[in-house]
Amino acid sequence: MENIKIIQTAHYIPEKAVFNAELTKLMDTSDEWISSRTGIKKRNISIGENTSDLCTHVAEDLLVKSGWKADELDLIVVATMSPDSYTPATAAIVQGNLQASNAFAFDVSAACSGFAYAFEVASQFLLTKRCCKVMVIGGETLSKVVDWSDRATAVLFGDGAAGVLLATDQTGKSQILASDLQTFGADCDKLSAGVNNALSEFPPKLSERREISAFKMDGRAVYSFATREVPLSLQRACEKAQIDVAQIDVFILHQANERIIKTISKRLRIPLSKFPVNINHYGNTSAASEPILLDELIASQRIKRGDVVALVGFGGGLTVGTQIIKY
Ligand code: ACO
Repeated sequence: MENIKIIQTAHYIPEKAVFNAELTKLMDTSDEWISSRTGIKKRNISIGENTSDLCTHVAEDLLVKSGWKADELDLIVVATMSPDSYTPATAAIVQGNLQASNAFAFDVSAACSGFAYAFEVASQFLLTKRCCKVMVIGGETLSKVVDWSDRATAVLFGDGAAGVLLATDQTGKSQILASDLQTFGADCDKLSAGVNNALSEFPPKLSERREISAFKMDGRAVYSFATREVPLSLQRACEKAQIDVAQIDVFILHQANERIIKTISKRLRIPLSKFPVNINHYGNTSAASEPILLDELIASQRIKRGDVVALVGFGGGLTVGTQIIKY
């Protein structure tokens, strides 16, 4: 049992809404195909704002809502698979924007499990008392990564960011009950984005344009991976926490596909009412999807202090990550 408390949550969705009907003007697809296969009706696309801008909105909101000052932060972790650049890290840009001069900052790359991995990293810094006040944000501008001529992937993703402030809880009421992270690197080719190849010769041909690849996914392979590995990860985490899966009040699953969530609920024999979804509004926002939903559920009081909440990410790597927390 690890006494860590989610102090505050916040999210930011860029303004431009793109409904399925608008995509039918760009590619051979239909609202019927997209909604029946995925549950997605709309996604929001960032125009002119990069991942660090979305994350900075979230970071500022977190500080305003909590009353924490920027210079009280010890650590800022951003989970993203669509950073502004190889370097500087998106987290470093956010740290600069906030003028959080006492915080060190870095990114975590674990695709749609990014938030779960970043949450785990951040909690270790708290548990070892290296840090006292930590910000964890998942943020993506996947619209700049997808190939807009590839209907198999372009319809699935959206942009957004969300995050949490974490601190150790002296009262012991809020806890991380258990976590489970797994990586399946042998299946790394099932989902990739931004692949850029090594030089093929030296001296290089100066005229050669260096290509960075767009998003590619073996959708069926990722679908069966998620429906197999998420229940197993949840069961392992529950064993560690010494609770039954049925004792979890709310399951916040990465919002990749509503059908994946329905299948997982069936496999675990847990009512679908415990698996809230918002993928219909936002599409798959990768590392941002879990904290966006978490913030919405806390704001609507669907999640209250004392509830047992499972946060589960899955995706590129391939990766899966579960945290069971007492909120
Ligand atoms: N509109 C219309 N038709 C389409 C579209 C589209 N947008 N995309 C594909 N199709 C067609 C295909 O060409 C194919 O046609 P064919 O039968 O004539 O060949 C047909 O629809 C079926 O295609 P499939 O890819 O087999 O469709 P499937 O039912 O598997 O659904 C989907 C695809 C939605 C991607 C599903 O496989 C899925 O959700 N997979 C999991 C994705 C996921 O979980 N990702 C999470 C990780 S993301 C991350 O880590 C960043």
